[in-house]
Amino acid sequence: MKLHTSLAAAALGLALTATTALAEDCAVITVEDQFDLEADEIVALYNCLADKLAEGYGKAGDEVGANYRSWAPTSTRPAIQGAHGNRILNTFANDIAAEQYLKYQEEDFTMPVGSVLAKESITISIKKKTARPGPLLMMTKMEVGSIPETNDWLYTGVQPNGKTMKVKQSFCHDCHEAYEDSDFLAYPMEEVRLGQDQ
Ligand code: HEC
Repeated sequence: MKLHTSLAAAALGLALTATTALAEDCAVITVEDQFDLEADEIVALYNCLADKLAEGYGKAGDEVGANYRSWAPTSTRPAIQGAHGNRILNTFANDIAAEQYLKYQEEDFTMPVGSVLAKESITISIKKKTARPGPLLMMTKMEVGSIPETNDWLYTGVQPNGKTMKVKQSFCHDCHEAYEDSDFLAYPMEEVRLGQDQ
């Protein structure tokens, strides 16, 4: 009897391992450098983890984490951009932000109060040969004059498990400061911006 139980447990263990392995097969990385990933490979990795991302960000009740997928996409596909590390990025803009953000304007404007940009990220580990969900990073335009150091942008984040991330404003802003002319927005890479070929 005892033997049967442990055999059954072992079989169950195997089944579980197999399921886990299957679920993550599509997130395997075979290249030696994330910048060697082709567009279709980036899209495939994103599609592999897309459900897991949205589920995770929404899990703990964060309002943006639970809703951003219904917002406006800001690129033709997810892409890898050096500055946010070894990550595949995909940004969404809420109703208030979308019209202005999608102009990708380089100067002479300020985003409307209430604008929120939410950027999904997928972390690529060349060493571990896998891709896994990274944080959802957000910028929210607060009331005029409320945060003079950042022109009223509040930087926040949600972890892949839905919990609020501790975000040091200066860490984010020190880099976004380089984009001062475009109200501190860096925008997706040009080749994936919407409407670029029209
Ligand atoms: C080392 C530079 C750097 C740091 C640090 C950084 N960002 Fe960014 N951020 C960028 C760049 C570059 C982009 C545009 C990348 C893209 O979408 O392809 C970007 C885009 C964004 C966007 C989309 C809006 C936009 O600018 O177009 C959000 C939201 C964002 N970052 C949030 C954050 C938050 C929150 C932090 C801090 C936890 C942070 N960023 C730290 C460089 C940085």
